[in-house]
Amino acid sequence: MIPNSLLQRLASWCPWLLREEPKQPVKVLVTGAAGQIGYAIVPMIARGLMLGPDQPVVLHMLDIPRMADALNGVRMELVDAALPLLRGVVTTSDEAEAFQGVNFAVLIGGWPRKEGMERKDLIAKNVAIYKSQAAALQQHAAPNCKVLVVANPANTNALVLKEFAPVVPAKNISCLTRLDHNRALGQIAEKLGVHVGDVRNAVVWGNHSSTQFPDASHATARTEHGERPVAELVADEKWLSEEFVSVVQQRGAAVIKARKQSSSLSAASAACDHMRDWVLGTPKGTWVSMGVYSDGSYGVPDGIFYSFPVTCEKGEWSIVQGLQIDDFARSKMELSANELDEERSMAYEFVST
Ligand SMILES: NC(=O)c1ccc[n+]([C@@H]2O[C@H](COP(=O)([O-])OP(=O)(O)OC[C@H]3O[C@@H](n4cnc5c(N)ncnc54)[C@H](O)[C@@H]3O)[C@@H](O)[C@H]2O)c1
Repeated sequence: MIPNSLLQRLASWCPWLLREEPKQPVKVLVTGAAGQIGYAIVPMIARGLMLGPDQPVVLHMLDIPRMADALNGVRMELVDAALPLLRGVVTTSDEAEAFQGVNFAVLIGGWPRKEGMERKDLIAKNVAIYKSQAAALQQHAAPNCKVLVVANPANTNALVLKEFAPVVPAKNISCLTRLDHNRALGQIAEKLGVHVGDVRNAVVWGNHSSTQFPDASHATARTEHGERPVAELVADEKWLSEEFVSVVQQRGAAVIKARKQSSSLSAASAACDHMRDWVLGTPKGTWVSMGVYSDGSYGVPDGIFYSFPVTCEKGEWSIVQGLQIDDFARSKMELSANELDEERSMAYEFVST
């Protein structure tokens, strides 16, 4: 063991001796890469917003054969953006090639919900897609590949993936509820007139759907008088239990109404936040919401992917324990768990057909 004092002297004489080796590129798969969120997220990943500014990446981009030209257009734009962290791009409509050796997989591709489409039909279409991608994940991805499912129904797609990729540890599969979490922080910040970076520890419980329960009762905000509970600062119980909850639940629909297209940049940004915190860790004292395989915490049934408050360290998430749950919160949390249970039953119906 070389003493620290000697190391410091060595560093001052020949700094190159202690310079860290540049990181090796990692492979990141984005499915549905020719779609709206795909188009927004690939430059974010290639600029280091997901895995850090010193982490080179090779992007694998998968879409269906009909989107091959559009996918090639995205590849051309990535070349034109001259992104120093981007060490290679693979575009393909072949799942085996797409999943080959990937360390991270962001699954955005799926069957879109069309007007008049029943939830059951949406689940049927996506069960088929996620069953097939589970096989590719299991056979071709790098060991310990971390997976984030964005495509809806996100929680149930994640469950199908887990069921059909039994070799992949359940803890490596997650789904995106970080957009809902960020929306909750944004609403609180606007209400209090503070910067969003000063608000933390909201929770989104449950499904990424309108039954989710955005919960501000544990959130805090930094003020000139120190860190204070959001409930105390807002001092409006009705706003917290009604308006805040429904605005966050319905925010996706409000964006569609305004933009005539669904949330893309905020979804892409949230997916980067999700993966970055998972891999690089959550700041001390801060938790985030992630859809993960339930272990029964807070009385949530196991066997479903459910959004919980989590902290992350050294590439592992763990559910925050011991939060106080009142009757109001309990009933909202159960509602969303029941919906996920129904989705699971529907998915299992199609799994066996
Ligand atoms: N979890 C969340 O917070 C959240 C937020 C916003 C959107 N979403 C969901 O994300 C998904 C994508 O949204 P979008 O706006 O980018 O949609 P989009 O229709 O613009 O893009 C979807 C892309 O997926 C591709 N695709 C379809 N089937 C595929 C398959 N089997 N393999 C690979 N690619 C396939 C399509 O060709 C298309 O290019 C939707 O399911 C949407 O509901 C989730």
